[in-house]
Amino acid sequence: MTQKRVLSGIQPTSDSFHLGNYLGALKQWVELQDGNDAFYCIVDLHALTGEIEPALFRKRTLASAAQLIALGISPEKSTLFVQSHVAEHNQLGWIMECLAGFGEASRMTQFKDKSAKGGADSARVGLFTYPMLQAADILLYQAHYVPVGEDQRQHIELTRDLATRFNSRFGETFRLPEGYILKAGAKIYDLQEPTAKMSKSSGSVAGVLEIMDTPEANTKKIKSAATDAGREVKFDEKEKPGISNLLTIHSSLSGRSIADLENEFEGKGYGDFKGAVAEVVVEYLRPIRTKALELLEDEKHLIDLLHEGAEKARVVASSTLSDTYKNLGLVK
Ligand code: TYM
Repeated sequence: MTQKRVLSGIQPTSDSFHLGNYLGALKQWVELQDGNDAFYCIVDLHALTGEIEPALFRKRTLASAAQLIALGISPEKSTLFVQSHVAEHNQLGWIMECLAGFGEASRMTQFKDKSAKGGADSARVGLFTYPMLQAADILLYQAHYVPVGEDQRQHIELTRDLATRFNSRFGETFRLPEGYILKAGAKIYDLQEPTAKMSKSSGSVAGVLEIMDTPEANTKKIKSAATDAGREVKFDEKEKPGISNLLTIHSSLSGRSIADLENEFEGKGYGDFKGAVAEVVVEYLRPIRTKALELLEDEKHLIDLLHEGAEKARVVASSTLSDTYKNLGLVK
């Protein structure tokens, strides 16, 4: 049996996913659904660790589903569902919290970064326990692979540590998952600040390329991307982070090698190069945006698809949870 289990999740925290989400993770989600048993989860419970506005939150969850389907996640090939529809995530999350040490949870960089922003005292407890819920997401499905961007590596390490600890203390229960993190694209940078990762919570709107943005808006963002000293189109992350980021974006979407692109733009200026990047990005995203908008016109259909996904997910999740409870000695 060569089929592997795949699990990943994404937060519905904005109206649109950005190109970092796509190149770091979602593109691999689409590829991995062929020949594997893939589970993809819109992690709405994780999103509660930030500010939410209920009507907008609901809209964003559905917009997330529409975008995932539009960019190629097939509800027939893979299991697409919403985290809060499968209660086992919370249930195993609690077990993971009881397994994790305060010290190791305190060392999670995502928690440290996010809590540092508003001051550690005002950070939510949910932000602290976030990685244990993420571990539950992964372990419930006995995933072999977890396709994510570089920023999630530490959470996957923690997941492996928790699984190892549980298995050795209470008997073999969980498969140890591996991160599926590509070299190119695992970290896409902000266009305005090419040393910071492209991020939904980043301050710079102009630096984030959104799937649902209009072609005009994305063209404008690319054309006004911060570039580096000199005028050579060359991949050099240290000296030329802006141009290197644009090269990565072009290469990942067009499938052309970086060397090939460097050759094509030899002797030409940054302006020509940015124009070419804009065209590749806009043409790539155009049908995805159109399809997502179309899907959003039939909300009931989208919700039905998500309910069907949750049914399928629950079968696997409840079986793992039941083994976990049994191995822990909880009375049935
Ligand atoms: P989230 O919602 O922040 O991001 C979704 C995915 O996008 C990747 N990503 C990036 N990749 C490259 N460059 C970037 N600039 C960039 N920004 C984001 C992220 O690495 C991620 O793969 N904790 C997770 C959600 C989660 C999860 C899970 C993931 C919850 N449970 C279980 C995997 C398995 C997160 O915040 O992703």
